[in-house]
Amino acid sequence: MDFLEIEGGCKLNGNVTISGAKNSALAVIAATILSDKEVTLTNLPNVVDIRTLLKLLTMLGAKVEHNDTVAKIDCSTISSTRAVYEIVAQMRASILVLGPLLSRFKHCEVSLPGGCAIGQRPIDLHIKAVEVLGAEVTLEQGYVVAKAENGLKGNKIMFDKITVGGTENALMAAAMADGVTEIVNAAKEPEIVQLSEMLNMGGAKVEGIGTGRLKVHGTNGKPLDFSEPVEIIPDRIEAGTYLCVGAITNSEITLDKVNVEHIQTSIEKLEAMGCEFDIKNDSVTIKPVAELKGVNIVTTEYPGFPTDMQAQFMAVATLASEDSLIEERLFENRFMHVSELNRLGADIWLKGNVAAVRPVKELIGAEVMATDLRASSALVIAALAAKGTTKIRRIYHLDRGYDRLEEKLSNIGAKIVRKKS
Ligand code: UD1
Repeated sequence: MDFLEIEGGCKLNGNVTISGAKNSALAVIAATILSDKEVTLTNLPNVVDIRTLLKLLTMLGAKVEHNDTVAKIDCSTISSTRAVYEIVAQMRASILVLGPLLSRFKHCEVSLPGGCAIGQRPIDLHIKAVEVLGAEVTLEQGYVVAKAENGLKGNKIMFDKITVGGTENALMAAAMADGVTEIVNAAKEPEIVQLSEMLNMGGAKVEGIGTGRLKVHGTNGKPLDFSEPVEIIPDRIEAGTYLCVGAITNSEITLDKVNVEHIQTSIEKLEAMGCEFDIKNDSVTIKPVAELKGVNIVTTEYPGFPTDMQAQFMAVATLASEDSLIEERLFENRFMHVSELNRLGADIWLKGNVAAVRPVKELIGAEVMATDLRASSALVIAALAAKGTTKIRRIYHLDRGYDRLEEKLSNIGAKIVRKKS
């Protein structure tokens, strides 16, 4: 099994080009199911999760040509509407095919995702959304079986919790429904904005984009036509991760191809820690900072501080000069990086969903284990600042979501190699 070996303590310098956003790309790929014509996607990140969803589409009968950052997807040939356990168990986001399959084909079967490392992560809100639009949903032998024999009908979906994936499924289900759907308490993430704009381009009309109240005028069964290529937006979490790399290694790093607005909260938190930035249109430079201050973080929905950046900031906070407090509000078990960071010499205490990070003078390289995607990147960040060598095992988690991580880090001077055990 592959592992990463990182020699810490190097000062880094240079540019990192940010890839397309994995989470946006997943929703966009799922949305291609709504069309019966070929759709071109560009700026895809080269990561395992994208290949997994493309494989699922192929299994459904779609024709997929995929080459690094570009995919051409033709869903006119879909012949099955069953998303099998083998794929869904690998990646929970496979549930995103529920809305579009049901909307276009009036029935589908999607395996329940099963256990998840960062908490329970139920899909009840996804199911509720399609039920409100008239689907009949049953659970049969581990599969969500959804049927809407007469097609979906526009209605008012009230989410009692903000859910990114649930909002995406609701949008895609509503896109080909008959009539108008209102989505109340919708997520406002940039990924939702990109999906909404894509649906608009394809012929469904989405209003209120970027707000918590979306209105979707469905096409009443007419497949969407995405005549223009869809360019995936920059990955705000990848960008935030490299900013954390700059902060902890006291280095000057410039990120190219970013959307500055999308990473505002990460920039603000790092400013609160004493970092300085040079910000241009689509690039951000983090300046070296000799001493980091402590930080208080509460994760919340966009535009608040993203839960997907919590672990990386915790790694940075380990070497601050003051205490930090980090509260996780979205996922109940998203602290598995704590014990691994402590193996590197960090001093982090956990009580419920709050972590108290007491600063230490240095981190020392050790053998650690990646536990989920963002937890793994926190270990990379800590390892880059630690004295000596760190070996990070189970890096398949990183490969799910970080495009060319070793290459990007090596290019700015990091000593990082992938090895096989
Ligand atoms: C997406 C992102 C993930 C990010 C998360 C929160 C993708 C592929 N993944 O995940 O990286 O960490 O948003 O920003 O885009 N919930 C329910 N019932 C549901 C659905 C969700 O109770 O049916 C709960 C979840 O357990 C969680 C909260 O709602 O506590 C938010 O989850 P949600 O926004 O749905 O996360 P995902 O879409 O799975």
